[in-house]
Amino acid sequence: MKRTAILGTGHYVPPRVVTNQELEKLMDTTDEWIVQRTGIRERRFVDPGVGPAELAENAARAAVEDAALRIQDIDFIILATLSPQHNFPGTSCFLQEKLGHPGIGALDIRTQCTGFLYALSIADQFIKTGMYQRILVVGAEVHSTGIDLSTRGRDVAVLFGDGAGAFVLGASDDPNRGILSTHLHADGRFARDLWLEAPGSVFQPRMTVEMVTEGKCYPQMNGKKVFTSAVKKFPEVMREALVSNKKSKDDVDLYILHQANLRIVQAAADLMEIPQEKFFNNIERYGNTTAASIPIAFNEAKQAGRIKNGDLVMLAAFGSGYTWASALLRM
Ligand code: COA
Repeated sequence: MKRTAILGTGHYVPPRVVTNQELEKLMDTTDEWIVQRTGIRERRFVDPGVGPAELAENAARAAVEDAALRIQDIDFIILATLSPQHNFPGTSCFLQEKLGHPGIGALDIRTQCTGFLYALSIADQFIKTGMYQRILVVGAEVHSTGIDLSTRGRDVAVLFGDGAGAFVLGASDDPNRGILSTHLHADGRFARDLWLEAPGSVFQPRMTVEMVTEGKCYPQMNGKKVFTSAVKKFPEVMREALVSNKKSKDDVDLYILHQANLRIVQAAADLMEIPQEKFFNNIERYGNTTAASIPIAFNEAKQAGRIKNGDLVMLAAFGSGYTWASALLRM
């Protein structure tokens, strides 16, 4: 059977930097509170008129170039986002239009923080079965247009930022390289611990002025519960990947966890007794970019020389749904 190799990676973040000090002017918060509890110092926000499809296009083009391929060499697109360009059709269709490659399949994934790993897993199955040869997998988010930037929404608003990251995956005959395994989980009993209630098709009409006034159009989060669940699930799903590949935690060269909160990553590392230096973090500069956080971090780690050919890399995520997932890969 074929293996799925990572042929190229890319990322793009919008140029506008929003510091904690800027948020202090919009809501009752402090740089100290945000840094102490999350590790975030700044994030990127898009300019008006820019959506996830625009961010995704830049990341995708960078990944295709990194793979030394042309857009026309791609035969399927998978895009993960919780902040779609429009309600429908999927953002992957808008991305495909921008890439100028009509006709190939385009699929949206809606599993929030684990979106990129679910997308990676789906792409892996398509490639291993021979259905597609080269798949573009993208995570792209624009949070800034959908968060409550007032004191009412401060617990959520300070966490999130905009950005996109992309992989080009391709079939390989090398049994020692590529995606070794992926592990996907969800528990819908906790769906309302981190969710965006409206607009919703369950409501008639889907959105009302009252819903806007009450703030139901903004994400709601039970921060403490999400935090403790993440700290529990990250080690569990990473151990699952290690056991399934008969690897030890020390065999892994680099750990890249979804950038939800620096304290979550540090707690997961401590629980597994893995040195913090083995984890790549960039939440300080970008905040939580949800489906985009893993591919952005991966590409930055690669550019910084932290991922080399032959390295074993662990990816893991936890978030809204709840969903949690991991992937172990050999570069
Ligand atoms: N600035 C200042 N104060 C804030 C604030 C902000 N941005 N947001 C909330 N607060 C206040 C609260 O109102 C509360 O005040 P009160 O005690 O007077 O009621 C207090 O800070 C809560 O502080 P604390 O209990 O120390 O918060 P915490 O340690 O639970 O940290 C989070 C809050 C959000 C940082 C933390 O719960 C978290 O990171 N959760 C997971 C979030 C996450 O990763 N989500 C994405 C999942 S992928």
